[in-house]
Parts: sequence; structure tokens; C-alpha cells
Amino acid sequence: MRTVRAPATSANLGSGYDSFGVALSRPADIVSVERADRTTIEVTGAGAQFIPEDPAKNTVGAVARALDAPAHIKIDKGVRPASGLGSSAASAAGAALALNDLYDRGLTREELVPIAAEGEAVVSGAAHADNVAPALLGGFTIATADGVRSIETNVPLVACLPEEPISTRDAREVVPTHVTIEELVATVGNAATLAVGMCRSDPALVGAGMADEVVTPHRAALITGYDDAADAAREAGAHGVTVSGSGPGVLAVCPPDRRRDVAAAMVEAFAENGERARAYRTWTGGGAEFV
Ligand code: HSE
Repeated sequence: MRTVRAPATSANLGSGYDSFGVALSRPADIVSVERADRTTIEVTGAGAQFIPEDPAKNTVGAVARALDAPAHIKIDKGVRPASGLGSSAASAAGAALALNDLYDRGLTREELVPIAAEGEAVVSGAAHADNVAPALLGGFTIATADGVRSIETNVPLVACLPEEPISTRDAREVVPTHVTIEELVATVGNAATLAVGMCRSDPALVGAGMADEVVTPHRAALITGYDDAADAAREAGAHGVTVSGSGPGVLAVCPPDRRRDVAAAMVEAFAENGERARAYRTWTGGGAEFV
């Protein structure tokens, strides 16, 4: 038996659609695996009732198939599904690390990224790696067609999750398929700023680089109360605010001592829009680990 704690993650970070991701110090899934003749899945915890236990429909089933590693897989969800915090990716990354070790497959964490991303395709229709990469490697990650780069970083964050779920599959439908050269120039500048900010663990620079006019406004329009929550977070001291992954989670970066106020301001703004929300005061964190 192997047990892994796999962290929540936030993908895109505004300017880095399908490329940037960060691991969060909390919340996390706990994934346990035991050898078996065929794969079975048992899910408990946050939002477990919404997660299929059929291996053909669950993200970890795809991972077990890809590693040819049948197992009884128990997932205790700390990361709520359809919240924008990489819930399916946490389970997929945890299962990939645990099964790789259980069956002695000898793959590196970098080599496990595309395998865990197969699980994402089951859930969202696309094998995007921007959640599984930070869930496996930790820190700030950049997923590109020719691989993944990662750096350790230390940035204070608040992740606020309204209760109304949004499926990644649906949220991918609203993403524009073309950009203008002006939008490309602005995006490159913002993304580069964000990456430098992560390298320096500088929340102000990260916040400035989160700006995005290409994808984020379309995703934000799906989230009741997003504009008010983002304004409230900025008034409470956030350097930058964006949609976390495909939403409905909202991610704010702020000075460490402003996290409590930013979290409270976002929860209150959502409440004023009739949305119950929960906020996590968190930091960028490490990747999945054996427990
Ligand atoms: N990059 C993906 C998307 C992340 O935005 O659709 C989903 O969490």
C-alpha cells in the first residue's frame, strides 16, 4: 500500500492559459493505492457524491491504465470538484506518484506529468498539464508542448471558492480561438512579468502579471459576483486577482499580512451576490508527497 498527499493547484494565473500553474500549500487530496487484479475506486470527502467511481470515468482510472497498474484506489477529497483548484489533477497526480512506486515503474515526476494529464482528458476533454504539473512538481510550473519547467517560489495567496460549480469542459467552450497581435503583445508582457515575479517570490510583480484580457473576462462572466469579489479583494490589499483555473474559484495574490482581510472581503462580496463561498488562506507549496 502507498499513500500520497497531493495538493490543490491553480492553473492559468490569468496570463498563462493552459501553461502556468502553482501548487497550493492547502487544501489537498489523500490518495491510497493497493495492488489488485483490476482497478476499483472509492471516493470520500469533499464533493465525493459528484465523482464517478467507475474507472472508465474517473481521472485516476486513466492513470492506472496508462501505468498498467491495476489497484484498489481510495481517494479522500480535500479539493472540492469543479471548484477551479485542480481537484481532478490532485487525484491524478497522487495516483500517478503512488502507482509508479507501488509497481516500481521507475518514472520521474516529470515523466509522470503526461500520464497524469491523461486523467485530465477524461474529465475536461483536453489533456492539459497545467494542474498536474504543479501537483507533481510543486512551486510554479510552465507546461509547454516540449515539456515542463518548474521553480520553487514562496508567494502568499488566497483562493476563494463560491459554491456554484463550473465544469472545466463547459468553461473551455467560452475561450476565444483567435487573438489579435495587440492582445498577443500584452499577454507576452504580462506572462513574462508574472514569471519574473515567481522567480523572485514577489507578490506585487506576480499580481501585475496576472492581468489578462483574452481568456479571463470570458471565464469571469460565468461566475456570479466575480467583479465585486475581485474589486473587494483589491480594496483589501490584493496585488492581483484572477479566475483560478476554469473557475469558479477566484485567486488573489497579496502581502502575507493582508490574506485574512482579502479572504473576508471576497467571501462577503460573494454573499452580497447571493453566493456562499469559502476562502483558503494559502501559499504556493510543494508537490505531491508520500505520507
Ligand atoms: N487550463 C485549464 C483551463 C485549467 O483553464 O481550462 C483547468 O483547471
